[in-house]
Amino acid sequence: MTSAPAIPNVTLNTGLTTPAIGFGTWPLLNQDATEAVSQALTVGYRFIDTATKYGNETGVGRALAASGIARADLCIQTKLRGADQGALFTPRAIDASLANLGLDYLDLYLIHWPLPMVDLYVDSWQAMIAAQQAGLIRSLGVSNFQISHLERLFEATGVVPAVNQVELHPYFAQSELLAYHAEHGIVTQAWSPLGRSLNGVLDDPAVTAVAAEVGVTPAQAILAWHRARGVVPLPKSSQPARMADNLAALNVTLTPDQVDRISALSRPDGRLNDGPDEHDER
Ligand code: A2P
Repeated sequence: MTSAPAIPNVTLNTGLTTPAIGFGTWPLLNQDATEAVSQALTVGYRFIDTATKYGNETGVGRALAASGIARADLCIQTKLRGADQGALFTPRAIDASLANLGLDYLDLYLIHWPLPMVDLYVDSWQAMIAAQQAGLIRSLGVSNFQISHLERLFEATGVVPAVNQVELHPYFAQSELLAYHAEHGIVTQAWSPLGRSLNGVLDDPAVTAVAAEVGVTPAQAILAWHRARGVVPLPKSSQPARMADNLAALNVTLTPDQVDRISALSRPDGRLNDGPDEHDER
């Protein structure tokens, strides 16, 4: 295995850290996830993002076990799926994720979607706080939470999430949410940081122009844009050369003007997915 390049960390409100870039695993199923995560670890990633809903925790766990990398050097994050929300099922879901991943603690555990229509995210959060106190989870987070959902968690429990992982790419830059996170000490993580390569953002003239000015690929320009905004991107790739390029984007610095030109691509209808208030996937 090649030695890992140095990856800077970001500090969470728990005082713990995560690497400044992670490896996304959706939509890889178990076998592909084992292969991709093994390659990502070889390339140098140490922060792996998965979710029970992805159906690949077992595959991710196989790659972690085979890697021989010390547990303390890994940062592993998974998510509570909608079907497992609530006081009764959340503790069982945490145990199942630990078993699937072959771990005895999680670095981060996130509520995957708020699902306001079932209204169990506060109950789930309380169960997660108990699991954190029991040593099963180091830091607690959420995913796809809007400001209203975050405020409800604070009011009900007083525990502020360490992270909120949201859809975030140049066509949906989430500037208001980022400002709110900064005010409350919440680290923003980006899913589909490259727009899933579906929405054409990698070919957008503003992105390719910045990439050409800096002498990097469009994907690296976008990942550098995330980093400049204090966001932890979780790019997914099945190709080791792209995994390495994406990791190397940590060394790319954009000027404030270049950051602004990419941010200016954002538009209200830029989401790839339905919004957190509507999303109802269990
Ligand atoms: P592949 O897996 O074939 O590399 P996101 O992380 O925003 O969801 O985007 C993932 C998509 O972007 C995947 O289809 C992935 O394809 C592609 N992708 C990942 N890294 C790069 C890159 N450096 N350049 C171009 N496409 C990339």
